[in-house]
Amino acid sequence: LSGKTVTVTPSELAKHNTVSDCWMAIRGRVYNVTHYMEYHPGGLDELMKGAGKDATELFDQVHKWVNFTSMLAKCYIGPLKPDTIEQK
Ligand code: HEM
Repeated sequence: LSGKTVTVTPSELAKHNTVSDCWMAIRGRVYNVTHYMEYHPGGLDELMKGAGKDATELFDQVHKWVNFTSMLAKCYIGPLKPDTIEQK
């Protein structure tokens, strides 16, 4: 792992909302879950409900005890930041 992270805005996050390019934010952390898709125990359709957005509520409704930070460590992109505080 390089350890490099990239800050992601909601509008950037929203661009990655397909099965072949899927990003998702959970508790302020953005993940590329494209390659996790086929391993998700709840299936592809369920995981895709959170595609390209902040999926924290969906995630917590189903399994808030799941340790996503360790499971998705290699899929971590970086922190989610509001569009409004993007530096010009
Ligand atoms: C099941 C992980 C996102 C819906 C599971 C399970 C794990 C998991 C480990 C099995 C839990 C168990 O058997 O106790 C993750 C990770 C996610 C994620 C790491 C983050 C990317 C989501 C999202 C949804 C979702 C966004 C949308 C609602 C479900 C459902 C099940 C499930 C419906 C099946 C529950 C059952 O049949 O008992 N997930 N999940 N998951 N997940 Fe996710």
